[in-house]
Amino acid sequence: MRVAASIRDPDVNVLVACIRDNIAGFAIMRYGDADAHLDLLAVAPPYRRLGVGRQLLEWLEKCAVVAGIFCVALEVRAGNEGAQLFYKRMGYRTLVHLPGYYQGIEAALRMGRDLSRRPVDHRICCPRSKSNGVHSMDSEGKS
Ligand SMILES: CC(C)(COP(=O)(O)OP(=O)(O)OC[C@H]1O[C@@H](n2cnc3c(N)ncnc32)[C@H](O)[C@@H]1OP(=O)(O)O)[C@@H](O)C(=O)NCCC(=O)NCCS
Repeated sequence: MRVAASIRDPDVNVLVACIRDNIAGFAIMRYGDADAHLDLLAVAPPYRRLGVGRQLLEWLEKCAVVAGIFCVALEVRAGNEGAQLFYKRMGYRTLVHLPGYYQGIEAALRMGRDLSRRPVDHRICCPRSKSNGVHSMDSEGKS
């Protein structure tokens, strides 16, 4: 339901990474006036540590920059050390600890990145208006 609503939302990009016709990863970013929020990022276990997560996130970040948005935030489970290391590697830093963020039980870390501090590759064009609401990219990051 959440994914279907995201696909319909003109302020949200839903991105699918495909490798040889298999869905390797999936990401959703929501764009506001001044900042963006990564709602979801997941790479299928067989395709992890191959750069898929990096390419998905970089594609969505480039869309933000093209739209004039330079702040990106996300929440990650406090116990998900692998994802935290991934985001740190991607230039994110921990902003705040959020106790009970998940169903009042599990804590989250809110992490963020200032995209104005990064070199921007303008080669990828990221239209915010979509025909079917879903963008896809191949293993070379082309959309
Ligand atoms: C987190 C996740 C999206 C990373 O995707 P990925 O495609 O495996 O990541 P990449 O291959 O692009 O990794 C880029 C760099 O991030 C770091 N990194 C990624 N996963 C890591 C891990 N589990 N532990 C430590 N560092 C990690 C590494 O430095 C990696 O570069 P390297 O492989 O050359 O060392 C993926 O592990 C995943 O889907 N996990 C389950 C869902 C999840 O936790 N989503 C995030 C919720 S907020």
